[in-house]
Amino acid sequence: MTDPFTVDVLVTEADRRRAVEEDVRSGLSTRPRSIPPVWFYDEVGSLLFDRITRLPEYYLTRAERAILEAHSADIAGASGAETLVEIGSGTSEKTRLLLDAMAARGSLRHIVLVDISEQVLRVAAGELEQRYRVPVHAVIGDLRRDLVRLPRPGRQLWAFLGSTIGNFEPAARAALLSQFRQAMGADDALLLGTDLRKDVDRLLAAYDDSEGVTARFNLNVLEVLDTTLGADFDPRRFEHRAVWNAANSWIEMRLRSTSEQQVKIPALDMVIELEEGEEILTEISTKFDRSSLPGELAGSGLEVGSSWTDPAGDFLLTLARPGPSALR
Ligand code: AVJ
Repeated sequence: MTDPFTVDVLVTEADRRRAVEEDVRSGLSTRPRSIPPVWFYDEVGSLLFDRITRLPEYYLTRAERAILEAHSADIAGASGAETLVEIGSGTSEKTRLLLDAMAARGSLRHIVLVDISEQVLRVAAGELEQRYRVPVHAVIGDLRRDLVRLPRPGRQLWAFLGSTIGNFEPAARAALLSQFRQAMGADDALLLGTDLRKDVDRLLAAYDDSEGVTARFNLNVLEVLDTTLGADFDPRRFEHRAVWNAANSWIEMRLRSTSEQQVKIPALDMVIELEEGEEILTEISTKFDRSSLPGELAGSGLEVGSSWTDPAGDFLLTLARPGPSALR
């Protein structure tokens, strides 16, 4: 059966495997050991993330939705866009608020969704095509690499929501924002979601919930490596940790080895010796300062138009445009 929507596969199974291999080879052979968070999102990981977004402790999704509920019409109007390009779209659940606002103005013509997780992307693309009756272009891609290869019909609003930008360290963040800037047309706009700094106890609870869903999400990356690389990580011999790194203003998720152990990764011809208590960094989740974002965006050639928070001031949405830039 053919899909009613277009699917571009920029990351094939072979690419994916090669990228996991490279990331794991470099991440596990340097100290501190690390695994990049992009590999959390296999089918199980995507479902667990979806559960995280509904946890009482995980305020991010609700706060961002509240902002979109209050301001989607302003955002759609200010952007003047006819195409929504969503990067790291996942289930595209909150995006519907933006799409509804664009449709209500009569300006919605196209939808482009980009995500690394094929199953989730196909479901979302099908649902959006049904609901909005406009061409939906689903792109299975890695945002670290594939932004310049996206189809771009008409004037676009690029949405990068959920504070996914917070997964990148400052240098990588600047590079990614510059890539957005370069891929965008002069009349396009970027809607960026960022989580804001707040009480450390609330932050820690959001990344170490009482039901243990975040722990399972974190540990699942080991199963992804077992499946993809034939590794023999035993998730029962690791525990989830969430740590606030005040110097860098980010939450770190780590996997702590509960005993001395050896892990074999046949596909990489690697054997890793872990000490008891040794930790693998699996994610950083940066918490931003509202006042420093315009400067940070300007450094990547993006000029802030408007920004909005939820009533509690937990989360920020920023609408930015390509600025007058020397980078051009
Ligand atoms: C989807 C990357 C924004 O950093 O809050 C949720 C992922 N990690 N719980 C985040 C995540 C642990 C999430 N992002």
